[in-house]
Amino acid sequence: MGLKPATNPDVEAVAIELSIDGKSVAAKDGVSLYDVISSTGTIIPAMCYHYTFDPFGSCGMCLVMQEGKKSPVRSCTAKATAGMIIRTKGDDLFQARKKAVEKHLSVHPLDCPVCDADGHCELQDMAFQHGVTNLANAKQKLIPEDTRSPVLDFNMNRCIACAECINVCKDVLMIDALQFMKKGGFNQVVPKGDLALSCEFCGDCLAVCPVGAITNKFSKYLYKPWQMKKTTTTCNYCGDGCQMYLETKDAEVVRVTSPLSWENKWGDRADTAKGHGGLCVRGRFGFEYIDSPARVKQPLLRKGNQLVETPWLETMHQVVEQFSEIRRKHGPDAIAGLITARCTNEELYLFQKLMRTGFRTNHLDSSARYGHLNFVHASRHALGIGRSPNDWEDLTKANAIVLIGSNITETNPLTAVRIKEAIRVYHAQVVVIDSAITNMAKLASHPVLINPGTEGLVIDGLVKATLELGLIDEDTTRKHPKAFEALKAAVAHVSLEQVAARTGMSVNALKDTAAIFAEAPRSIILCAEGIVRQSDGYQNVLKLIDLAWITGKLGQPGCGVSTVTEEPNEQGAVDMGVAPEFLPGQASFNDQTARDRFAKAWDVTLPAAGSGANLVEILNGCKSGQIRALYVIGENPLATLPASMEVRAALDRLELLVVQDPFLTDTARMAHAVLPACTFAEKDGTFTNLEGRVLRVREALDPVGESLPDWHIMTAMANALGCQWEYESSNDIQAEIMKLLPGYYNLGQPRKVVPTMDRYLSHDYTPHVAARYRAAAPSDSKPQRPYGLLMGQILYHSGKMSTEAPGLIKIVPNTGRLRMNPQDMERLAVGDGATVRITSDRGSLQVAVQPDQSVAPQTCFFPEHFNEPPLKDLMSVHVDPTTGVPSFKQTHVTIEKA
Ligand code: SF4
Ligand code: SF4
Ligand code: SF4
Ligand code: FES
Repeated sequence: MGLKPATNPDVEAVAIELSIDGKSVAAKDGVSLYDVISSTGTIIPAMCYHYTFDPFGSCGMCLVMQEGKKSPVRSCTAKATAGMIIRTKGDDLFQARKKAVEKHLSVHPLDCPVCDADGHCELQDMAFQHGVTNLANAKQKLIPEDTRSPVLDFNMNRCIACAECINVCKDVLMIDALQFMKKGGFNQVVPKGDLALSCEFCGDCLAVCPVGAITNKFSKYLYKPWQMKKTTTTCNYCGDGCQMYLETKDAEVVRVTSPLSWENKWGDRADTAKGHGGLCVRGRFGFEYIDSPARVKQPLLRKGNQLVETPWLETMHQVVEQFSEIRRKHGPDAIAGLITARCTNEELYLFQKLMRTGFRTNHLDSSARYGHLNFVHASRHALGIGRSPNDWEDLTKANAIVLIGSNITETNPLTAVRIKEAIRVYHAQVVVIDSAITNMAKLASHPVLINPGTEGLVIDGLVKATLELGLIDEDTTRKHPKAFEALKAAVAHVSLEQVAARTGMSVNALKDTAAIFAEAPRSIILCAEGIVRQSDGYQNVLKLIDLAWITGKLGQPGCGVSTVTEEPNEQGAVDMGVAPEFLPGQASFNDQTARDRFAKAWDVTLPAAGSGANLVEILNGCKSGQIRALYVIGENPLATLPASMEVRAALDRLELLVVQDPFLTDTARMAHAVLPACTFAEKDGTFTNLEGRVLRVREALDPVGESLPDWHIMTAMANALGCQWEYESSNDIQAEIMKLLPGYYNLGQPRKVVPTMDRYLSHDYTPHVAARYRAAAPSDSKPQRPYGLLMGQILYHSGKMSTEAPGLIKIVPNTGRLRMNPQDMERLAVGDGATVRITSDRGSLQVAVQPDQSVAPQTCFFPEHFNEPPLKDLMSVHVDPTTGVPSFKQTHVTIEKA
């Protein structure tokens, strides 16, 4: 509808005054009159309005009287103008609104007893509020239900044609999967083209539908709203940290709902910059793993070749005995531990404390090692901050965003929605640099397709283009002339033409991107898996920081170099010190002052400074026999890492492998003991999201079977090892963290971080800067294998956990097929489902193929969530020498028709 400036709350507009119910009210010229009325605290009925998108004006409920007009006007689509005199109350308005309700009800079935929205329906509420009692003339539409979608059913008999579903999908999500279509004499909502719904299945249309016209397939007919317990918690799938309501009935999760709902339609449009309250498909429909029959419900102990259900006491007794025996015989360094960043902060804190004070070893790591630590180390080294400096509001209100190596709709869908709002509402210039044709590239002002694995070279080109075009912030660079000279010398050999030839990004695109980034007052670089999970990730983040430094974008409001976290608590894992190099609060493990502080607080002697092994070193230690016992919480290295890492051989050599997990993973199947752990739905705690916000996780269900929260199991283990821990709840652990890290629990608000570069630029920069630009030296060598094989995340899954959620598997099962660009398939003369042989330096296997338009020519893609066939085993592993991050998501392959 485009009511400006209702669309962009930051647009300058003339200040006006108007009269509402006899009171003078200040407003901006041209905004929705409905918003002005709401801002005075007067809420009038509105069934087709929602503050997250532009007014539509179909329901006829928001009627007001405007002086000078004979009939009531629809306030949502009316623009506020100076001097308007408005009345919002009165019997005439009540009767007019009542008529509108009667009109809707006259074509609405009265099937409330079997409608999922019964008791949670705006039409019911409106009929009740307006005393609509004469329903004798109601006509039936008799429209067959559309059940073609895997997650949503459309019952158009109940639709009131408010278009909220269409508008949220088009305006907020920029997906535009729904439309009105005249069918059978009625305006019906249908998936575009009246085909089966093909979209991102986020369910936001379901959330905003004020009646029961769109229903959730998973919970239909299972409940009445008042029978359910609603628990507010934080999603466990990705680092966006969306707030959600887990709705449970008895011991079952029935559905997941979101803060976004038709019920919260009154809000300030400016607030959507912080998020619109929706969820993605994983959050909304991926909950069934929680009470899956496949959950491990009792401890398992290996007896011969079998894992046998065993009581907790006996299992723990044996586990602790064996750990103690190994420590006695071989010392604490024979023990190591790995934990997933899906655990809460309190559990992550406890894990490192258990390893360091219970087992007395510093061999410990988390899944943040798979990439996030590249960002953390680079950002800490250069800027002194170990996380992203920008929050969602910064992203939404940025004038320019350079998204490099990030298929963000797939990994962090709600952060992606912030970028969509930046594009649509705030008109940001967005450059998407990626080797896949990403969803965001299709919406961006500047989509740039590059050759796989050339992100680092692109950054060289951007730095060079910035220097060549003189896009330098003199005030910033003048303070560190030596460092600036060193950077210029480091990129002296870089030729934009050569970068263009090798990366596929034209010289003009390099220059345009450099100019867009440098010239916008608020610009952000967002780098993700294509940088931090690839080799040279650490150096490439440092190069992005170089780019932001010379353009004066560090420390400026709304600017910076940021990243996203794929798992929900990767940031928390680093902050809680789950890495051999960090104590809690990201204090260096070797820093004597920090060591003294924690040793005193924990009343122990810490493992020696300089000791400790990270993920790859731990696995190598297992392989060599130096590490004899491994405690694995929620991690599954066997399914995650390629065969060349020889994880099976490493685990096979262990005298004791203890796996604590809600599921019997591939790694758990090899274990000597499996301890059943709860999911996030069965425990309390907190996650730290990608903005640095600490968010509450709340227990919605009793633990399934005999499973226990990870913190509970660790406390029992520590006490059996001789520690004297008295934690009775997650709150007790939180209280301890609060004392050690004052200010960490900023519940709800991201803490602002300020970069400091002076030390880095004055001391450490000049000798090292040249090394990171060496890769750009000219090279004539072409890869012997012409295709790039990429493995990565897809929207419908997250790690391996989502594969236990039937709802998500129903949407995207493992087809076992390699995704290829249709042109390449044509060139190879292979059709959909045909088999090819794919060969890398690491091996060869046969796999079926399927066309995928989002896969760029000369590349192919396989989702990392699936191991059948084991495409990951074609990957080589490169370990970053500075950060220990293993990268294994990309390689070169040949593909032939089998
Ligand atoms: S589920 Fe999401 S993407 Fe699909 S139609 Fe509804 S709002 Fe649009
Ligand atoms: S399906 Fe629901 S949200 Fe969509 S137009 Fe109908 S009533 Fe409105
Ligand atoms: S975006 Fe991430 S946190 Fe939000 S609902 Fe989806 S998976 Fe969960
Ligand atoms: S809210 Fe204004 S017409 Fe529906």
